[in-house]
Amino acid sequence: MTSEVTMMTPGMKAQTNRIVAFLCAVGALAAGTIGCGGAPTQPARPALPAGETLTSGQYSLTLPLGLQAGAVYIPDNNPLSQAKIELGRQLYFDPRLSRDGKVSCATCHDPDKGFSDGRPTSAGIGGQTGARNSPTVMNRLFSKEQFWDGRAEDLEAQALGPVQNPIEMGHTLEGMLTNLKGIQPYAPAFETAFGSPGITADRVGQAIASYERVVLAGNAPYDRQQAGETAALSESAARGMAIFNDAQRGNCVTCHAGFNFTDESYHNLGVGMDKPNPDWGRFGVTKQEFDKGAFKTPTLRNVTQSAPYMHDGSEATLQDVVEFYDRGGRPNHWLSKEIKPLHLGAQDKADLVAFLEALTGEVRGTEKPTLP
Ligand code: HEC
Ligand code: HEC
Repeated sequence: MTSEVTMMTPGMKAQTNRIVAFLCAVGALAAGTIGCGGAPTQPARPALPAGETLTSGQYSLTLPLGLQAGAVYIPDNNPLSQAKIELGRQLYFDPRLSRDGKVSCATCHDPDKGFSDGRPTSAGIGGQTGARNSPTVMNRLFSKEQFWDGRAEDLEAQALGPVQNPIEMGHTLEGMLTNLKGIQPYAPAFETAFGSPGITADRVGQAIASYERVVLAGNAPYDRQQAGETAALSESAARGMAIFNDAQRGNCVTCHAGFNFTDESYHNLGVGMDKPNPDWGRFGVTKQEFDKGAFKTPTLRNVTQSAPYMHDGSEATLQDVVEFYDRGGRPNHWLSKEIKPLHLGAQDKADLVAFLEALTGEVRGTEKPTLP
């Protein structure tokens, strides 16, 4: 990557000041950009480009910097709308979707914990634990298939899964609908969101999916650097980025590709393959031998907020994750050919972690609703 920055010499600074003074005199500078007269102000930073605009139906949204409006997945029969998003937000935070009235989506995908739960594996109804780590709900807008093994076709299909999962929310769809119909204000909210009366399971899935699509993470130091703010990354993070992108060194970008840092595909890194009964991951969906032990590449955006890591929560910190890759994952019959020992030095590892940390930015959609 080439750098466009030129260092300012004192002479050039004086020159710039003269230009500013001239522009002030002719009134050509917008107020607030550079100080005109009075005390010297902050040195001017070049204005960053705005985030891209996403349009769906009548709804439009400026995405956080770095996210690409052309890469979204929204089914044709469920365009975004403000009413659906707000209804979905209430349903997402409402524990009355569960059998005992105590577990909501936010129990395991908590905005205060990076939309995850901070546990190796999640605890659902009655404190029962499952076998998999709760993935973040951020940036689902850019993915079609959901779950570590991709078994849900889209977010709409995904949302009704946990409600019926005996160890997550432990309910039936009929039971959930009976609960919701008993809460008076939900009826008009569904009618406003969908244009006709009726509380149905499909509508619950569509509303929750709409809310999840505006849970977004972007505008991280990495994005500001990509947009031209050259000092946004520390030197360590910038070296880490070079390792991340270099096929001969970190090789991370092969799978954590593109602006959302995922190829939306499935790979075996050997996580959990030493267990007596390993979780076969993607194989459970496709029954293809090569999918044994393969899991979906997760996004790395805001990854600092969702420890512990991997599908079974077996790595406690980002340092541990980097050590895991440096060892070449856990060798097994189905290990991805992209995973091999990296022989990184201590500084290289620290730099990679610094780069991962620079992927944490602004999060949208964290506001909690007032429940009806
Ligand atoms: C008891 C904890 C728990 C509850 C409650 C829960 N989830 Fe999850 N969620 C998980 C776990 C664990 C996974 C990963 C399971 C897997 O991949 O097999 C997951 C996966 C997901 C995913 C897939 C993300 C991805 O990257 O593929 C989404 C989206 C999601 N949940 C949304 C929801 C919604 C919406 C609700 C409420 C209707 C909900 N969850 C309730 C624990 C929970
Ligand atoms: C062969 C594809 C591939 C390569 C190469 C790869 N990753 Fe991953 N990454 C994955 C997959 C798949 C997972 C989830 C694996 C699992 O849980 O079984 C993952 C998980 C992670 C996680 C945990 C995220 C979370 O939310 O749990 C981090 C952090 C990570 N990778 C960073 C890196 C870094 C840094 C590199 C380069 C040193 C790298 N990855 C190289 C595919 C890859």
